[in-house]
Amino acid sequence: MENFTVYNPTKLHFGRGVTDEIGQTAKQYGQKVLLISGKGSVVKYGYYNKIHQQLTAAGLEVFEFSGVEPNPSHQTADRAVSVGLEHKIDVIVALGGGSVIDTAKVVSAAIPIGVKTWDVMKQNVQIKSALPLIAVLTLAATGTEMNAFAVLQNQATGEKIGWRSPFTFPAHSFLDPEFTFTVPKTYTAYGIADLIAHALENYFGFGESPLTDRITADILIEAMHYAPLVLSEPENYDYRANIMWLSTVALNGTTLHGRRYGDWAVHGIGHTLSLLYDTPHGASLSIAYPAWLRLHVNRAKNRIERLSELVFGISSAEHFINALSSFFESIQCPVHLNQIGIGTDKKDEILQLMNKNKVSGMVHKLSDSDRNEVLNLMFRYAV
Ligand code: NZQ
Ligand code: ZN
Repeated sequence: MENFTVYNPTKLHFGRGVTDEIGQTAKQYGQKVLLISGKGSVVKYGYYNKIHQQLTAAGLEVFEFSGVEPNPSHQTADRAVSVGLEHKIDVIVALGGGSVIDTAKVVSAAIPIGVKTWDVMKQNVQIKSALPLIAVLTLAATGTEMNAFAVLQNQATGEKIGWRSPFTFPAHSFLDPEFTFTVPKTYTAYGIADLIAHALENYFGFGESPLTDRITADILIEAMHYAPLVLSEPENYDYRANIMWLSTVALNGTTLHGRRYGDWAVHGIGHTLSLLYDTPHGASLSIAYPAWLRLHVNRAKNRIERLSELVFGISSAEHFINALSSFFESIQCPVHLNQIGIGTDKKDEILQLMNKNKVSGMVHKLSDSDRNEVLNLMFRYAV
């Protein structure tokens, strides 16, 4: 087992009606709130009004920034920084999925020193503080509600990168599973693929940690159990609650304990697709993971076999890969590029960007020829 530190300062409020406390909670941090949201779903389904009312009822002054897009860009984050600076805000409330909360994290770090968000992401500036951030999660997937990571993309440089600082854990996160009842089936399934991918990225990281292996396996078992249930009954509170908590635990540190770092090659591959084709994050991973596992079927045989044994009771790498891929297909997640309309004519373009960014893993390094091979495995060829 590797040395590790457990540090997670986010105060998580989980369950029905928890957002009723948000006004009083936000008030502890000041008077002026920047309320950041996405492209309209939270308004459409009434969450926006609910949160807005709670904040104003507590006597807070609320300024708005909406329009954060899925796979958010640094330019969008810069526009939010301008609004925050203009109104001298004290605290940020992020209402949405991973895209909104990630954007808010970078904004919270950029405002105190008035810098461009891409400079924050590229670590061109030193971050010594951040505005307090309160997250209200509306989509179970990324784990951003209880970690310090943020992911933004830059079309001009062809990069989608992650960044973290000790200051970007949300101070509070409010998780009411009822806020996720309206997530469409597509994004519900992509979120499940994403949480499974997080558990796997850490599982294939550096260091042996048997207890963490078992926790990882249980996350997969539970996710596969609840996935068909939540897709057939999207407004079932218990199903949504279990998926929501699974997605938090998959990337709040729990799946890394005893290891030094995760691998993260598959996220690198997925980010290439999101950059080029705006592929939803989870869909990019359900395509990339089976291919990456096939590339590593012999290189990481023991690890894949071990997980197969823990999850399916069969110690077989082949079985694990086929079962994972079939599971993704069963919840309508794509497992080949062709299924999202990307044909082999795009292969060079994808490979070029993967090679330019040297997409690789922390443990399982990828060479140029590995990237070519993994990409081949991501296409379904006619037989
Ligand atoms: O934009 P709106 O109108 O809000 O609609 C969103 C969006 O279209 C919609 N949605 C969200 N909550 C909803 C809802 N629709 C109906 N009802 C609700 N309750 O869902 C769509 C997707 O939202 P988005 O926030 O993009 O999804 P997700 O939570 O999967 O976030 C993906 C982003 O997070 C990053 C990804 O790279 C991607 O940019 N990640 C962040 C991580 C982190 N910070 O730790 C780790 C992850 O690996 C991931 O990389
Ligand atoms: Zn992810």
